[in-house]
Amino acid sequence: MEEIEIIKPDDWHVHFRDGEVLNTVVPETTRHFARAIIMPNLVPPILKGVDAVKYKKKIQRAIPKSDRFLPLMTIYLTENTNKNDIRIAYESGQVFAAKLYPAGATTNSDSGVKDINKIMPVLETMSEIGMPLLIHGEVTDKEIDIFDREKVFVDQKLDFICKELPELKITLEHITTKEATAYVNEGNKNLVASITPHHLALSRNAMFVGGIRPHNYCLPILKREIHRKALVEVAVSGNSKFFLGTDTAPHLTSDKESFCGCAGIFNSTYCVSILAQLFENESALHKLENFISKNGAKHYNLKINKEKILITKSNHSLLFKKELDVKKQKIRIFEPDFPVFWTVSG
Ligand code: NCD
Ligand code: ZN
Repeated sequence: MEEIEIIKPDDWHVHFRDGEVLNTVVPETTRHFARAIIMPNLVPPILKGVDAVKYKKKIQRAIPKSDRFLPLMTIYLTENTNKNDIRIAYESGQVFAAKLYPAGATTNSDSGVKDINKIMPVLETMSEIGMPLLIHGEVTDKEIDIFDREKVFVDQKLDFICKELPELKITLEHITTKEATAYVNEGNKNLVASITPHHLALSRNAMFVGGIRPHNYCLPILKREIHRKALVEVAVSGNSKFFLGTDTAPHLTSDKESFCGCAGIFNSTYCVSILAQLFENESALHKLENFISKNGAKHYNLKINKEKILITKSNHSLLFKKELDVKKQKIRIFEPDFPVFWTVSG
């Protein structure tokens, strides 16, 4: 049996939601990850430091006693976000970062930002105090093809922000294209990107295998194989500008298999196993630790975790549990289209 020991990973982009769903999904993350950045797109969104503190307490109550886990909280930027509020929330330690959702770009983003110029004073303050900006990088114009929305955002919006505020720490989240990969790679030193396991594992064909596959629908939408390959190449390279943000995004099955299905893939349960397999398939297991345990911490000026995890390869491929139960409802667990032989054993 083959086994590797690596530093315990962190997840730099997680949706925990609220209520029963929160209680169900939190342990799926805390089992393997030491820290995570928690997304603020609840209904209503987390707009202020005090909201983040209340939300953090709910998350902490849902962490199993056996797990040590630190939730890092975020604020949802709107055109009305006050720069002094942001400063106080960050400097008091209530929140760790702020999230920019272009209005209408994704799940619960209606109160997001329409005009980036309106939030420039807030971004200037963030740059001054060293507070990270997390970006959902897609334009929302209906005329722009859904597969081009990330590239157009990079060209039209991200480039503007990076040029105006070169010192601002920016994470372009869940990147999906070779253009975004290249832009981040060549961009200024404060610009980095997170990548999800599903964008590393699947291309857009996976949404239409023998029919429509609502559980493979997420935003930014899956792209062509050429883009998936660019993401894999940079993830397994060890390049410190790229790290894991799972974007694990639980929705009830009934909300995904519907007339207007929600965007989001729930992937926490087998994330580490899937990534170990992906990296092994690329002969790059020795770079897994950089991608899931080191690069993100470095960007966010946090210490690398002290704990380790053991990942073991077995002779038989893993039998995936299909779903989680939430009262009488279900959440579908992400399963890739290749066999996975690795499990986290300790
Ligand atoms: C996320 C969600 O459901 O909150 N959905 C998704 O498809 N990724 C929001 C997001 O990160 O875009
Ligand atoms: Zn997300």
